[in-house]
Amino acid sequence: MRRLLPDPGETTVEEQLDSYQPWEHAREERPFVAMNFAATVDGRASIEGRSGPIGSDTDTAMLVGLRTRFDAVMIGAGTMRAEHYSGLDRRLVVVESGPEGRVDLPALLRSLREEGVRALLCEGGPTLHGSLQAEGLVDELFLTIAPKLSGGGAPPRILEGELDDVIPLELAWLLEEDGELFARYRRR
Ligand SMILES: NC(=O)c1ccc[n+]([C@@H]2O[C@H](COP(=O)([O-])OP(=O)(O)OC[C@H]3O[C@@H](n4cnc5c(N)ncnc54)[C@H](OP(=O)(O)O)[C@@H]3O)[C@@H](O)[C@H]2O)c1
Repeated sequence: MRRLLPDPGETTVEEQLDSYQPWEHAREERPFVAMNFAATVDGRASIEGRSGPIGSDTDTAMLVGLRTRFDAVMIGAGTMRAEHYSGLDRRLVVVESGPEGRVDLPALLRSLREEGVRALLCEGGPTLHGSLQAEGLVDELFLTIAPKLSGGGAPPRILEGELDDVIPLELAWLLEEDGELFARYRRR
C-alpha cells in the first residue's frame, strides 16, 4: 500500500492505524465520531443492496483494523437489515426507531459518552449518516473509493437526506493499493 498524502511512501493498514487514537479527542457531551463507507467511482454505496461487493480484501482489513481503535460500533436499522453483523468484538449500537419515532441522536451520543464510550465508529448507512451530519455530530469520514462502476438507479450515495449547509472537509490522509483509494477526511 502507498501513502499518497501526507508524506508519500510505503505503508500498511497496521502502520496507518497504529498512531490513530480517536479516543483522545472525545468531547464532554459525546464520543469522537468517525464514519466509514465504501463507494464505487460512480458514487454508489451498495451493489445489489449490499456493501460487500464494493471494496477489496484490503478495504475489509482497514475496517477490521479501524474497529480496534474504537470503543463501540454504530449502525442504522437499514444497515442491520441489509448486512450480516456477527462476531464483532466491539459493542454494537443499532439505531432503530421506537414508538416515539426516530432516535434522538445527540441524546444517544450523550448517554454513550456517560457509559464510557470515548470513540464511536459509525458504519452507516447513508440515512443515519445524513442525520448525524445534519446535527453536526461527525468528526471524521473514512471513505474507500473502489475502482469500479456499478450503475443502477436506486442505490444510495454515502449520504442521503438534506443538509442545511455544505459541509467543508479536509483530507487527512490518502492511501492507494491496486487503484483503490482510502481517504480519511476531517470536518473543517
Ligand atoms: N457502502 C457502505 O459502506 C455502506 C455502509 C452501510 C450501509 N450501506 C448500504 O446502505 C443501505 C441501507 O441504507 P439505509 O439508509 O436504509 O440504512 P441506515 O442509515 O443504516 O438506516 C436508516 C434507518 O435507521 C433508523 N433510524 C432511527 N432513527 C434514526 C435517525 N435519527 N436518523 C436516521 N435513521 C434513523 C430508521 O429505520 P427504522 O424506521 O426502521 O427504525 C432509518 O430508516 C444498504 O443497502 C447497505 O448495504 C452501505
